[in-house]
Amino acid sequence: MNRYKFTSVVAVLLVIAATSCDRDRKHPGWDYFPDMAYSNAYETYSPNEVFSDGKTLQPPVEGTVSRDALPFAYGTSTQERTRAGKELANPFEYSEMNLERGKQVYQAFCVSCHGEQGDGKGHLVTSGVYKYPVRTLVSDEMKGRPDGEIFHTISLGFGVMGAHGFMIQPEDRWKSILYIRKELQK
Ligand code: HEC
Repeated sequence: MNRYKFTSVVAVLLVIAATSCDRDRKHPGWDYFPDMAYSNAYETYSPNEVFSDGKTLQPPVEGTVSRDALPFAYGTSTQERTRAGKELANPFEYSEMNLERGKQVYQAFCVSCHGEQGDGKGHLVTSGVYKYPVRTLVSDEMKGRPDGEIFHTISLGFGVMGAHGFMIQPEDRWKSILYIRKELQK
């Protein structure tokens, strides 16, 4: 390649490089082999003539349980809570690991209302942000409350306390109960 040709090739490349810049960022640019950008598959929320309801995203088959989720076969009433107290037992034992995990769960999900000591004086309560009276977890009454009732309370809520079951795995709920028993109610 002679010098002249070389210079013109460089010049052309420079012009391409300069014009390919998008100064105001209002143009998405050209597609170069756009095969992957425009998928042939249906988008999750796009219409779909293949299914009778016209939707791409189909509901799971009736009765489907998501992975690792165990159905909790109790209603929300007090009678159902009592029944849970009679029928359910904590499947975990007091071990350092379980207590440590229980503490983490308690600190993450309960401490804001029920407090470091479990006395119902969490920072949401003492700061006045949370307006409802929060119950203590360390009274004699609570010490006598069966594990299954506490599990029911965490899972489905109790009175004004909201359900926490959907945010805490069952095993973590049980471990938080171990922690309440062993560290707070001692
Ligand atoms: C947003 C505040 C809040 C959070 C967070 C919270 N609770 Fe509660 N909890 C309450 C309130 C308020 C009550 C009393 C409800 C009532 O009396 O209507 C209560 C009641 C309870 C009771 C029933 C006490 C009894 O007398 O039977 C238990 C057990 C309990 N909570 C445990 C927990 C545990 C364990 C966690 C964490 C997984 C938790 N709570 C998270 C506010 C909260």
